[in-house]
Amino acid sequence: MNTKVWLVDNTDNLSTSFTHITEAAHFLQHNEVVAFPTETVYGLGGNATSTDAVDKIFNAKGRPGDNPLIVHISNVSQLNALVTDVPSVAEKLMDAFWPGPLTIIFQAKDGAVSDRVTAGLSTVAIRMPDHPVALALIEESGLPLAAPSANLSGKPSPTTAQHVFEDLNGRIAGIVDGGPTGVGLESTVVDCTEVIPTILRPGGVTKVQIEEVVGRVGIDPAIKSAHEAPKSPGMKYTHYAPKAPLFIVEGTTDFLQMLVDQEKAEGKKVGVLATTETVPRYKADVVLSCGSREDLSSIAQNLYDSLRRFDHENIDIILSETFPATGVGEAIMNRLEKAAGFQKISEK
Ligand code: TXA
Ligand code: MG
Repeated sequence: MNTKVWLVDNTDNLSTSFTHITEAAHFLQHNEVVAFPTETVYGLGGNATSTDAVDKIFNAKGRPGDNPLIVHISNVSQLNALVTDVPSVAEKLMDAFWPGPLTIIFQAKDGAVSDRVTAGLSTVAIRMPDHPVALALIEESGLPLAAPSANLSGKPSPTTAQHVFEDLNGRIAGIVDGGPTGVGLESTVVDCTEVIPTILRPGGVTKVQIEEVVGRVGIDPAIKSAHEAPKSPGMKYTHYAPKAPLFIVEGTTDFLQMLVDQEKAEGKKVGVLATTETVPRYKADVVLSCGSREDLSSIAQNLYDSLRRFDHENIDIILSETFPATGVGEAIMNRLEKAAGFQKISEK
């Protein structure tokens, strides 16, 4: 399959690029799948009401069929057709964070989207992305769009059209290239089907921000136990994996450098994931900065790109610094831990 690339300029209200959006929307209406930028990561969109289209999404990504997809909308008026009711906590969260990096789980209306979208669950995940290109594409297609991150299953999510091209060229109808995404990590997923909302995946909207709007929120124990079980790498946990094994190092920069030296002595090609502040302290084959410790959002933006860059350098082992798990740092550490399969090396 020939994968089209539509370059879109979103600095001018899309006025010069609208024909590209229209063409991409046309493909979606014909149940082809198209990658597009959102404020978090690139998504691989398809008509959520068509099993044919949704099958194409799963096939292109090589995604296991039991992992449900998020449905993307551009207007709250689309919600009624998709869900049985909108609980008041959900309404508050939508008012506060939509459009934006928050996905809400609702009770699904029977038959509203393909069963493949919800993986047979009675619930459906919905989000309104805060990106002019995504919103225009949904609007133009006139469809709710099922869209997982536009990477091959198991690879880091794409934050540029180039990342999507690397993974999916020849496997999808097209890519709308709207430049690099903003947040850099996926949306926060919050389940609003119970009385107390529960965070299932940390992301662009933080727990504290959600609590400010709805009071107490729960956290899925699976996220917490991840922090408590550093010694169980198990493949089933590695969802955002670079090719080389990744270890999170808890300790000083001197300790991390000592680990680099040990690996080098064994003839390994070693990569270090560091920050602008600490890059000069390391000597290794490849030392990457993913952002500044003074600005965690810069680290969120660059994390996946850094992991992909190590892949290109044919590194044998990656040693990463630890980042503060506050604010968006919660999501950063969650993704890094998954990428590492929870492998950690501590100085103490
Ligand atoms: O930022 C994002 O959310 C990006 C952009 C493209 O919107 N999308 C994304 O999709 O990250 P994906 O498929 O990579 O992740 C969707 C997550 C998965 O962890 C999935 O299990 C969960 O949402 N999910 C989807 N439907 C669900 C449901 N009904 N109940 C519980 N979890 C659900
Ligand atoms: Mg994904």
